Amino acid sequence: MNDRLSQALQRIEASPTTAMTDRATELREQGRDIISLSVGEPDFATPAHVIEAAKAALDAGDTRYTPVAGTMALRKAAALHFQRDLGIATDPSRVIVSAGGKQALFEALVATVSPGDEVIVPAPWWVSYPQMVRFAGGRVVPLMTHAHRNFRFDAAEVEALITPATNWLLLNSPGNPTGAYYPAEMLRHIGDMLRRHPQVMVLSDDIYAPLNYTGEKHATLANLCPDLGERICTISGVSKSHAMTGFRIGVATGPKWLIDAMARLQSNSSGNPASISQAAAVAAFEGPQEFLGDWRERFRKRRDLVVAGINAIPGLSTPVPDGAFYCFIDASEHMARFGGDDGRLALHLLEHGVAVVAASAFGGRNGFRISFATDEATLEEAVSRIGAALA
Ligand SMILES: Cc1ncc(COP(=O)(O)O)c(C=O)c1O
Repeated sequence: MNDRLSQALQRIEASPTTAMTDRATELREQGRDIISLSVGEPDFATPAHVIEAAKAALDAGDTRYTPVAGTMALRKAAALHFQRDLGIATDPSRVIVSAGGKQALFEALVATVSPGDEVIVPAPWWVSYPQMVRFAGGRVVPLMTHAHRNFRFDAAEVEALITPATNWLLLNSPGNPTGAYYPAEMLRHIGDMLRRHPQVMVLSDDIYAPLNYTGEKHATLANLCPDLGERICTISGVSKSHAMTGFRIGVATGPKWLIDAMARLQSNSSGNPASISQAAAVAAFEGPQEFLGDWRERFRKRRDLVVAGINAIPGLSTPVPDGAFYCFIDASEHMARFGGDDGRLALHLLEHGVAVVAASAFGGRNGFRISFATDEATLEEAVSRIGAALA
């Protein structure tokens, strides 16, 4: 390790999902035929009205600094989104716009976590959560979840991990990498338990909320337990819902002191998110939302196709994910061949033309994650290559 690196940086690694995607791109550039199921972004085109809004902003000369926490137009549109889509009452003074949901999560944690603090993170987790906690100097406390319970957990399991040093519980529903969805009943029990532990805040990452296949209305803690609102920060955005990953816009709402602290950090790092992207995000939140139902249906069909295909491969199994666009696949029966190292399994699949991410990258084990945000013919081919690689 280079001793010029700060202690904070020495505690973190580059994102393994990005690393796998980069490796797949490299092989493709060498002429290899690689299907990438490692990246988490919708393959649909960004809606036309969003593109038009970005062009109009350019033509109107919206090319300068905006307020650090986002334009008033976008903070109002985001407040509307929180209310309409997540049932969270808020106002623009309690909303911040960041360069992606990722930056908002980073800011919330770095603004509040000090050395010695503990953050409870359900595992398997999205790769960046533990890195962000460690960067801030905090300790990650894993809450292990399992496929046979659809990667859900109950309030008692969380409570058993709470200490006086716990300052956050992270919730991600629907979740990456497992597709887990936390129903209202489960969240209400967690809310009841949290009333006994006033030191614990909740970071609720709802970025996949529109991609919920259960037919239930999306459940989120700030809506179900408004009395805990001052202890909940909810993250959302347009990356996944509106196929806008490259625009880099995420939004957060929470107590004013926290939103102000996040803005303080943002004002000294990136400054405002890109002005053109902000104009596009206003159109995303305020424009038509009907296409989301169609996208959800198409994702659900792809999910069903992938789940059936994977479960038909001897030695592989996955539960049916309730949301998002990932399958978290158990490959325990194949692990002996790879010396118990699922990183080697992922490399083996890459050699056979499919890029996936090892479960261990997400704090899981003996398996891998695939994204089904790609067309059905490609998914069918990928499943067949996986089957052939493990035959
Ligand atoms: C669970 C989760 N949260 C947040 C993000 C970040 O999204 P964005 O592209 O808006 O930064 C992702 C992206 O992969 C994610 O999977």
